[in-house]
Amino acid sequence: MLALAAITGFSFRVSADEWPIYRKKDLGDTKKIALTFDDGPDPKLTPEILSILDEYGIKATFFVVGENVEAHPETLEAEVEAGHEIGNHTFTHCRIKNSDSKTLFNEVNACTEAIERYSDVSPKVFRPPEGVVNPTICRLAEALDYKIIIWDIDTLDWRHTPPEKIAENVLTHAHGGDIILMHDYICKDSPTPAALRLFLPKLIEQGYQFVTVSELLGTGETPTNE
Ligand code: NI
Repeated sequence: MLALAAITGFSFRVSADEWPIYRKKDLGDTKKIALTFDDGPDPKLTPEILSILDEYGIKATFFVVGENVEAHPETLEAEVEAGHEIGNHTFTHCRIKNSDSKTLFNEVNACTEAIERYSDVSPKVFRPPEGVVNPTICRLAEALDYKIIIWDIDTLDWRHTPPEKIAENVLTHAHGGDIILMHDYICKDSPTPAALRLFLPKLIEQGYQFVTVSELLGTGETPTNE
């Protein structure tokens, strides 16, 4: 077990660029996009999204909340089974700003443990709730060998943005190397499935390929169905 001192100690890093934080990847003309879904697994919305992704033959990355994994382990298993990447989104979706280093350490670790309890996955990517980063969370991610994944396109689906608006936003801004933020848990009705059905076929038509975050960063491969 890693000593907590490793994340609270003095750091020599001087610039935010040196921390393992990714918002997008410069891929030149390569048309690869990473779709990401936060806050699940949810027993209703996640399977609906999985089925749409399957229909289009697309792999994505799910940043799961540990306590939701504990509540719906079969949904996590379905994500893994379908070949999607699993990322860590803390155990309780804690507020980074209000949490001390010990709490953050426990939050990230408990989520890793939940994922490992119900799958053979060792997650490599971490997304802090609300995309909040500070030196403590950066040191923690580095010490636990997690890459911090933020996003380039925020679909604002969590705010119940209408599907047409989400699709328009994505289609206007998408380019190779993008990381797109969506959610597979939202209170009340979700615009996410309808939005996916609007923009996925168009992006596929434009030649985009959907990969896991780790493949986008060049540190992993997206599984194929073959
Ligand atoms: Ni979240």
